[in-house]
Amino acid sequence: MQRLPRHIAIIMDGNGRWATEKGEDRLYGHWHGVESVRDITTGCAELGLEYLTLYAFSTENWDRPAYEVKGLMELLIETIKKEVPTLNKNNIRLHVIGDVSMLPDAAKNELNEALAETSHNTGLNLIMALSYSSRWEITKAIQNIAADVKLGKLLPENINQDTVKNYLATKNFPDPELMIRTSGEYRISNFLLYQLAYSELYFTDTLWPDFRKENLYEAIVDYQGRERRFGKRVSN
Ligand code: IPE
Ligand code: IPE
Ligand code: MG
Repeated sequence: MQRLPRHIAIIMDGNGRWATEKGEDRLYGHWHGVESVRDITTGCAELGLEYLTLYAFSTENWDRPAYEVKGLMELLIETIKKEVPTLNKNNIRLHVIGDVSMLPDAAKNELNEALAETSHNTGLNLIMALSYSSRWEITKAIQNIAADVKLGKLLPENINQDTVKNYLATKNFPDPELMIRTSGEYRISNFLLYQLAYSELYFTDTLWPDFRKENLYEAIVDYQGRERRFGKRVSN
């Protein structure tokens, strides 16, 4: 408890394989993935973490077969509606990063309501990455920086790392100290490329629908055993 990360980011992967292993449709895996989201979110709130970012849907995921995208959107709408009381009970504030304009109207409406209904909460910040990709985010940031330069609001020579940070979707959140990916894939898949610069990375074979608080604690303990140097030298 002395050395907890403030911010954990998770690539929730393996729902499809989890379902296929059971001879079920991929959507069955996505529905079960929601139970893990609930367990991990409340686990992080109990630990007193400040930020949890969950990669739920990437901009590339729009190119999956239509029935899977439709199923995921329905799941999203239903889950947001259902989970708001639990978020409020646990003092969790919801945030969203991503190209929300791509989402169906019903999802946008549910999201906006959930954002408003949890905006007074002061505990864990739950950041859902929805229709998110890092290259989308960085491209958007560059467009907005260029627009502000054109308007004379910003001088190119004054652009520094703080400026860049302030144009990202994550401007209000610190960088994650720990990034977890489930399902045995060893890649970042367009997630927080800028923000993960010095994050500790943790990979586990556990598929997302099987990932529970105990697995989260294991990842945190692993993180706590690491020496973070940030390019410097710790001793002599
Ligand atoms: C992660 O599970 C959830 C989303 C990407 C929406 P997958 O659907 O990628 O499951 P696998 O990786 O195919 O098993
Ligand atoms: C990354 O998982 C995106 C999410 C978990 C939302 P994917 O399953 O889409 O990534 P790849 O295709 O394995 O890289
Ligand atoms: Mg996957």
